[in-house]
Amino acid sequence: MSVSGGNTVRGWMNAMLLSAIDAAMHRIYGTRKRELFADLPATVVELGPGVGANLSYYKPGMKLVAFEPGSAVHGQLTRRAARCGIDLELRGIAAEALDCETASVDVVISTLVLCSVRDPSHVLRQVRRVLRPEGRFLFIEHVAAPAGSALRAVQNLVHGPWHWCFEGCNTNRDTAATLERAGFASLEIERFRVGSPLVPVAPHIAGVAVR
Ligand SMILES: C[S@@+](CC[C@H](N)C(=O)[O-])C[C@H]1O[C@@H](n2cnc3c(N)ncnc32)[C@H](O)[C@@H]1O
Repeated sequence: MSVSGGNTVRGWMNAMLLSAIDAAMHRIYGTRKRELFADLPATVVELGPGVGANLSYYKPGMKLVAFEPGSAVHGQLTRRAARCGIDLELRGIAAEALDCETASVDVVISTLVLCSVRDPSHVLRQVRRVLRPEGRFLFIEHVAAPAGSALRAVQNLVHGPWHWCFEGCNTNRDTAATLERAGFASLEIERFRVGSPLVPVAPHIAGVAVR
């Protein structure tokens, strides 16, 4: 996807946007993140951490192995990790190429990333592969509205320009269905809405998939 180089004007614009909306992200997702990220192990893998919106929910001293192909966010991510006392190991490659050893990871985290990866089924296969038995995949994602709904029509309408502007982000991706097909031993999904019912990225899911 276009994010892979990360040096495009759009890459820098999106990095600036992620910084600009950081406070809003904490207001919107803070309570869920505190619940979801309670009880993390000493080392976690995160897909597409961007400028590090999740870092303040991690305990200082933790190690974060970050798979972030967008080089425009690397500087901010690195600085924020230092401020939060997180031991960051930054790998500038896409989640599709997750190169951790099989069954070696306790927790993988993804927030607002499966909308943008090129092949979400492949990414989830990789996540299952690297998780230890009983390892957890923790996620918060915006998703497709129900098929046939007015909002789904809006999502389909804006899909093209949105996908271009936001470096491959899909407004109408049914990530819950992809998770259900991914073969996890258990899957808890909570559905919730962010903002007005006609905002293309209003419908969300959050939850835990166990390997
Ligand atoms: C909307 S931002 C979300 C950033 C952060 N996770 C958050 O919650 O604020 C999407 C992020 O996913 C990254 N991304 C896009 N495609 C990716 C891929 N194939 N693998 C890993 N990260 C990817 C982008 O570079 C960007 O940082």
